[in-house]
Amino acid sequence: MAHDIDSLDSIGVVGAGTMGSGIAQVAAVAGYDVIMRDIEQEYVDNGFETIEGSLNRLVERDSLSADEADAAQDRITGTTELADLADADLVVEAAVENLDIKQDIFVDLDEIVKEDAVLATNTSTLSITTIASATDRQDSVVGIHFMNPVPIMEGVEIVVGERTDDEVVQLAHDFSEDLGKKTWESDDKPGFVTNRILMPWINEGVRAFDEGVATKADIDRGMKLGTNVPMGPLELADHIGLDICLHASETLHEELGDRYKPAYLLKRKVEAGDLGKKTGRGFYEYE
Ligand SMILES: NC(=O)c1ccc[n+]([C@@H]2O[C@H](COP(=O)([O-])OP(=O)(O)OC[C@H]3O[C@@H](n4cnc5c(N)ncnc54)[C@H](O)[C@@H]3O)[C@@H](O)[C@H]2O)c1
Repeated sequence: MAHDIDSLDSIGVVGAGTMGSGIAQVAAVAGYDVIMRDIEQEYVDNGFETIEGSLNRLVERDSLSADEADAAQDRITGTTELADLADADLVVEAAVENLDIKQDIFVDLDEIVKEDAVLATNTSTLSITTIASATDRQDSVVGIHFMNPVPIMEGVEIVVGERTDDEVVQLAHDFSEDLGKKTWESDDKPGFVTNRILMPWINEGVRAFDEGVATKADIDRGMKLGTNVPMGPLELADHIGLDICLHASETLHEELGDRYKPAYLLKRKVEAGDLGKKTGRGFYEYE
């Protein structure tokens, strides 16, 4: 069967966390049937709670009608069984950022899904080719890198593995655009386009603060007013999660060498449990 957008009805999502729940939501809003899997029912339930909250906010802002929000929720089914994704035409994997876990998921998906189903990963830093190598369908594995928060962020980075088929790359673009997103393409090189450039920028912001170049507020203010970005590096790090930034930086450091070395203060804050907005404290404090 041809890999084209008309062949997509059912979307599988692996992981119901921050990204998985967001991906399930935007796919359901666009009219796809979605089956969302996590390892424990509690995590699936949390995913549904996140989706409900996000849809309610969109309704309050008049971005969506209440009927559309209800219909989207009805199109999402939750499960703890990966086997329930058997009928999915496209699966987007958004489990934790761990190569062994992702490869295990792809080995299982390769067995479970139809021969012509496409497998996508939302990884931020891991190699699409390495993940795909665990399967017997490397040509049907592609990176669809959504940004956080998925329902709000317009950009999606399409990452092309060593053996990804052109038709599958096109499908990834078409699917993302069908969700109302705008895409760009990256080769499967460490960090792709976004994190390769973003992580050193964040680390340099942290170092500048640690070395007393300016106050954290002035570092963020300077970068916003001086370079026209919506958030400064310290604010953005808090928003992403300092543990996620550290993990991404460590992966890039391993692959690309010293210019990607994580800032000392970033490590110290993660060790202290100050992970940013999600723990109420990172470089700033949150309610
Ligand atoms: N959070 C971000 O800003 C962001 C942005 C872009 C991409 N990503 C990528 O998206 C992926 C998910 O990140 P997240 O922030 O949603 O993480 P998260 O921790 O919020 O959610 C991950 C979920 O995966 C589940 N999980 C673990 N093993 C699983 C398995 N075998 N099968 C199914 N589910 C499993 C966990 O229980 C958890 O609910 C990662 O690869 C991450 O790098 C994250």
